[in-house]
Amino acid sequence: MHIQGIGYYAPERIVDNDALSADLDTSDAWIRSRTGIRTRRLAADNQACSDLAAEAGKMAIISAGCTPENITHIIVGTVSGDAAFPATACLLQSKLKIPTAMAFDLGAACSGFLFGMQVAQGIMAAEPEATILLVGAETLSRRVNWQDRSTCVLFGDGAGAVVLKASPDACMPPGGIFPALVEGVICEGGGGGELLCCYGGGTRYPYRHGDIIGPEYFLHMNGQEVFKHAVRAMSDISSRLLKRLGRSVEDLDLVVPHQANLRIVKAVLERLQVPEGKAFLNLDRYGNTSAASIPMALAEAHIQGVIRPGFRVLLTTFGAGFTWGAALVKY
Ligand code: UT7
Repeated sequence: MHIQGIGYYAPERIVDNDALSADLDTSDAWIRSRTGIRTRRLAADNQACSDLAAEAGKMAIISAGCTPENITHIIVGTVSGDAAFPATACLLQSKLKIPTAMAFDLGAACSGFLFGMQVAQGIMAAEPEATILLVGAETLSRRVNWQDRSTCVLFGDGAGAVVLKASPDACMPPGGIFPALVEGVICEGGGGGELLCCYGGGTRYPYRHGDIIGPEYFLHMNGQEVFKHAVRAMSDISSRLLKRLGRSVEDLDLVVPHQANLRIVKAVLERLQVPEGKAFLNLDRYGNTSAASIPMALAEAHIQGVIRPGFRVLLTTFGAGFTWGAALVKY
């Protein structure tokens, strides 16, 4: 399977740590030292998840040298979609004027993009002609409790997208870094559901007319537990993926990790024995954008010229579920 094009979108509204500390008992110093985050982007009032996804999707389709008519499947990794139904992927299909496609959402939280990659591999095994638009898109600013300083400072909104094909198109312009070969991807998960969750409004805690919207309607996280699981899971699955592919950390030119917390990234790299300088980071500007985090970082690394032809790039993630995964991409 090949990545044939990439795109991303970050909403225009920038909110820095000082702006948050105006209404909340927090500080720029605390947020920066504990997370590495300086600013995050928040969707405008009239923007929902599919609007962000559409901007990223459009860019990916153009970058892949495709047209909307070429897309056969749309997968949107998200846990903050426009609605319970229809799927955000279906709304995206209309926005991008993709005439006919199998469109569905994939709810694996921050692991949504890598889970989507593995699902795309399965689709291509059955339908080698498929052209898949895989998007990670989130508007978690609508799901966090803005009175809970332990979570609201962490998250941001955004979207990233790739176009995937089993075999690269002959019409790809020469000289670029695409198509990039996905050498392998593994995803798994287990346990920890109650440690990172948002139950309110679902069928376990349905909203009834007149109910007060309490904290259960918003994201809840046991940060310390999630931190420990994230470090272990991302480093272990990355090691296993490399072993399965007959590769070692010396083969890696770049690591694009899930952008949740700088301290998590450093701990993962230390366990993998990869030098810190090999990680591409943009969490200082965007915070944790969940399923959008890896494709946004990958797109920026591409646009900034950080990824060069011949590079081997490790992607790894961890999120609610718990879910986690890793992929290796050769440019
Ligand atoms: O993307 C999915 C995965 N999510 C993650 O990977 C997030 C994983 N967790 C984390 O990144 C970290 O656990 C956090 C950044 C959420 C928290 O960092 P921490 O070093 O684990 O802090 P803590 O929860 O141990 O809290 C330390 C102190 C507490 O005060 P006391 O009890 O020591 O007096 C908190 O109440 O910091 C306090 N605190 C804050 N202070 C200022 C918590 N949030 C804030 C805040 N500003 N925003």
